Amino acid sequence: MLDRRCLLAGGAATLVGCAVPRAATAAGPATLHDFANRSGRVFGVAAGDAVLKDAAFGDLVFRQAGLFAPDYALKFAALQPRLAPYDFRWPDSLVDRALQQGLVVHGHTLIWNDDLPAWVGQLAPAKVGAVLDRHIETVMGHYAGRIESWDVVNEPAWLGSDHPGTLRPGAWADALGKDYIYRAFRRAAAADPSAKLVLNEAWTERSDFVGLAVRKSLLARVDNIQDKGLRLDAVGLQGHLLPQFPSDDAGFADFLHTLAERKVEIYISEFDVDDRSFPEADGLRDRLAAERTRSFFDAVLQVPAVTRVVTWGLSDRYSWMRDPSIMVADGLTRLARPLPYDDMLEAKPMRVAMAEAFARAV
Ligand code: G3I
Repeated sequence: MLDRRCLLAGGAATLVGCAVPRAATAAGPATLHDFANRSGRVFGVAAGDAVLKDAAFGDLVFRQAGLFAPDYALKFAALQPRLAPYDFRWPDSLVDRALQQGLVVHGHTLIWNDDLPAWVGQLAPAKVGAVLDRHIETVMGHYAGRIESWDVVNEPAWLGSDHPGTLRPGAWADALGKDYIYRAFRRAAAADPSAKLVLNEAWTERSDFVGLAVRKSLLARVDNIQDKGLRLDAVGLQGHLLPQFPSDDAGFADFLHTLAERKVEIYISEFDVDDRSFPEADGLRDRLAAERTRSFFDAVLQVPAVTRVVTWGLSDRYSWMRDPSIMVADGLTRLARPLPYDDMLEAKPMRVAMAEAFARAV
């Protein structure tokens, strides 16, 4: 068992003499990516401009992770706020920094029926397909050979949708129906044959009617994509854990085994824990978040098809859950502490839980 001092010391501070699972100790205590690697997996972090603007945070991300994903700069709304020539300077600044630091880069996300600029929804339906094609060709062409994998389609499901089944409404689905999914994967395979193509979905980690319904729709979507002879290399399951809703990690692992029968890799693609429902009492909140993390990680890491775990952020300081527009919209006042490093960039019990789970999964 690895020394808990060292597991906890993997933050901005380091402890001399920590036992590390890799041969060299010159680089300091083992990183989360070191622990993931020992179990044959990749640990990644999604983040935004803070990795460039906050040197200490950037150092922490690029030291702890083996993969980086821009959390917004590669989205349609960021690249095409209006129909215009593409300007890649913003995402290039993030992608280039991650590559310079020796990380691999994941592209999030090409086609999503949310967060689209208004002009896309104002297009004549007959023109939407060409815009989808142009976007995928242009963006994947620009990053061919530099971005290893792409969320080709993000969050295709939406319960209560006015479309047949659980197809999420939005400009792509409204104009093309579910064919937008197949068109996107067909176009992506041609745009960069070297990139892994990913279908990324939310909510499946819940064990209530929402999670079970999305799991069922996701399996059907994977089968439909493959039945059309389209390449699908991986499925991303976001893993935004909401402890206020029912969860059954063993049942989730059973779902992962069922999904793995489709011969796809599985990425836990956006992990964090919304800890705002936990009682504050002297450290109990952080301990409960760590326990939720341990249980989830132990379950998913027993599935060999799970090859990647990505946290959505790395420090509470920059969590998306602290976006004021989201907090106001959700009527929330408590600041979330959903990630393995705190506001001071120090490791939390969650970081220990993650490292120990990776170590057990060897
Ligand atoms: O860059 C602009 C800035 O120029 C402007 O001044 C500012 C104020 O309007 O907005 C900035 O853009 C914001 C962007 O994040 C970058 O910070 C957008 O308004 C804001 O909507 C956007 O939020 C992102 C959200 O997805 C919507 O795209 C979050 O950063 C991102 O963490 C979140 O990530 C999603 C995944 O894509 C899908 N799964 C759920 C996950 C969490 O919601």
